[in-house]
Amino acid sequence: MKRSFSVGRASTGALCLALLVPLSAACSDDTSDTTTTKPDSGGGGTTGGGGTTGGGTTGGTTAGADGGTTLSLYQRLGGKTGLEMFVKTVVETKVLTDADLKTFFFNQVASPIPAGHPSALQIEVCFGRFVGAALMADTYPGAAVNDPANTNTPNHTCRSMIDAHKGPGTMLNIGSANFDKFVGAIAASLMPLVKPTATKAGEITQAEFDALAAALNGQKMDVTTTGAPSSGPFVPTLYDRLGGKAGLEAFVKGVVDNHIVSDANLKTFFFNQVATPIPAGHPSLKQIEVCFGRFVGAALQADTYPGAAVADATNTNTPSFTCRSMVDSHKNATVVGSQLHIGSGTFDKFIGYIAMDLQPLIKPTATKAGQITQGEFDALAAALNGQKADVTTPGASATLGPFPN
Ligand code: HEM
Repeated sequence: MKRSFSVGRASTGALCLALLVPLSAACSDDTSDTTTTKPDSGGGGTTGGGGTTGGGTTGGTTAGADGGTTLSLYQRLGGKTGLEMFVKTVVETKVLTDADLKTFFFNQVASPIPAGHPSALQIEVCFGRFVGAALMADTYPGAAVNDPANTNTPNHTCRSMIDAHKGPGTMLNIGSANFDKFVGAIAASLMPLVKPTATKAGEITQAEFDALAAALNGQKMDVTTTGAPSSGPFVPTLYDRLGGKAGLEAFVKGVVDNHIVSDANLKTFFFNQVATPIPAGHPSLKQIEVCFGRFVGAALQADTYPGAAVADATNTNTPSFTCRSMVDSHKNATVVGSQLHIGSGTFDKFIGYIAMDLQPLIKPTATKAGQITQGEFDALAAALNGQKADVTTPGASATLGPFPN
């Protein structure tokens, strides 16, 4: 039977793709194709990546202009099974064999896979479903994807593109060129399917190819991270290399405990913290450390300041402390005990201690936890020094000395 290219469901899917709204409700909630004729084809075609298409397990056919049937794009890509096979083949032959791209799948090669992370199989099913939803033939995230081999997360619920690539606990720090290489691998596997007239399983038109490529490229903002190395292997963000939230708090605690409160001059500024009880409205050292770590985290665009109130039951007057602005913390004229009268020399000494503890982390190439580059060190130092006007009080002594200096 002769089939003509459908301008029905398949092209609507392509339009959806072209508009780069693959996950909008309009694109994803319609899982039923208007089947007019049972597909009499759907087998046989092979994708460029080697996965077999065909099967047409989901979706139906649309009536062609001549009364015949035309397979939807989803069907020609092999439906659910075919798309999964296609993704599996691309992942296994092009992504996991690429020296750089494969390093991003560190969770998948860990044994066991850390809780909350999908196995390669679960990613493949989610990915296939993602494309299926863009073609209006499947729903994303849909039901949890089962893989008993992923012992910590045997039932994984597919996440949004942001959560899967740069959400809490999954900061892949993907750069632009790596994204392009990944999409390029998919495109290279789709390319051999392009035919002038695509009517059968395993065939797509140039326009459909372009729309698919555009839809994938449209995910770039959600998948990549600003400031990530464009190419090369996975490198954790600076925030993660500094140990994330817990690591930064521990670092600040180390600076405070080892240097600040043991410095004869600097420690005198923390008179509220050594009072019993700490006067109302003032943070404990622990609360200061959490706020400080969060402040640096926010400067690295990985945390929010002031964020949630910081708990410390031992600070009886203020067991729940909301981090304040730098001005309010150091020279708020209206809050008793918040006029710290910090001068230039005191500020410089304080920053000097932080720099002293950061310095040993500097490495020519910083790729792992506990490593930072000279450039990153300089940027951190500049960010801290940039607070000088907000922290210091004009007229306070420029020379190091005890409070009230
Ligand atoms: C258009 C581009 C992309 C799409 C549509 C896409 C889609 C997906 C999907 C559907 C998942 C599974 C959802 C989930 O984890 O809940 C996933 C996970 C993942 N993707 Fe992508 N992806 C894209 C680009 C990339 C790139 C460029 C890389 C690496 C270079 C990458 C690496 C990963 C990794 C490692 C995971 C698993 C994360 C984890 O361990 O928690 N993806 N992606």
